[in-house]
Amino acid sequence: MTPKAQHFTLTQEIQIPAVGFGTYLISNEDAPQAIGAAIDAGYRHIDTASGYHNEEAVGAGIRDGLSRNDLSRTDLFVTGKLWPGNPAWGDAPKTAKQVVAECETTLQKLGLDYVDLYLIHAPYGGPERVNQWRAMLDLKSRELARAIGVSNYTEAHLDEIKSARLEMPAVNQIELHPWSQKPELLGYMSEQGIAPVAYSSLVPLASWRSAPGQDSAKTEEMRADSTTFETMAEKYGVTAAQLLLRWGVQNGYAVLPKSLNPDRMRQNLDLFSFKIDPGDMAQIQEMDRGESVAWATGDPSIAD
Ligand code: A2P
Repeated sequence: MTPKAQHFTLTQEIQIPAVGFGTYLISNEDAPQAIGAAIDAGYRHIDTASGYHNEEAVGAGIRDGLSRNDLSRTDLFVTGKLWPGNPAWGDAPKTAKQVVAECETTLQKLGLDYVDLYLIHAPYGGPERVNQWRAMLDLKSRELARAIGVSNYTEAHLDEIKSARLEMPAVNQIELHPWSQKPELLGYMSEQGIAPVAYSSLVPLASWRSAPGQDSAKTEEMRADSTTFETMAEKYGVTAAQLLLRWGVQNGYAVLPKSLNPDRMRQNLDLFSFKIDPGDMAQIQEMDRGESVAWATGDPSIAD
């Protein structure tokens, strides 16, 4: 296990740990303990968002985890996300001034002076979308965010930034797993030097968000396909979760698994002692279904 294998380069100065701990759907009650336990388990990358409504509790977990493990702020990579508004939901798009205020509020709630990466959570800014990006550049120059990026952006949304001749995002965080491989978008991002970060890598697991109230858009056909990964994982002596996460990092994507179970937290970090062979990588490449499962791409507000 080499330390280099566990990071990807975002910019000359900034490395992103290949495995981050996701915090979506972690309650305010669970978050302090869960984030602290993730840091105990060895996570050095925490992914959060104002839209998850748990920033204060995540911040408490960060503080506990750092102090218990005798770590300093610079040992941890923290990602925050701006909720950009969404006119389609009657939620006015944030103006540039509001973007700056939102970031300051996030930092205050997390109890941090800066985030390592700040993302626009979705392309919901409508007429303000490019101005929101200008405000992100301002946040970076004020060092409230070391790096900036976007999430759930399509090629058209990224092209808007390019057409405005603005510096491009360092990252686009998108849903990526064997059923949603997005080769065209990834090709465009690679040309533009935009690093992919994968969310919802574990969608194909039968246990993924199986708790009541955590509905997913999985079809019966998808559910029946989950066993393919279990069978393939057996060959490497790992779990299907490790195989899916390894697939992401082997393709060069940082991954953001979330688990409240300490054994699974550790398991999800342990991805560097095996390698998926080229034949299995090729077989997985054939499994792309195109569609996202965790994020409804059918939402018309993404298109405008
Ligand atoms: P649990 O918290 O019980 O471990 P996402 O990161 O996309 O939100 O997915 C998280 C879901 O995947 C949760 O339901 C979580 O359940 C489950 N999960 C996380 N890690 C594993 C694992 N190693 N094995 C099985 N299920 C897992």
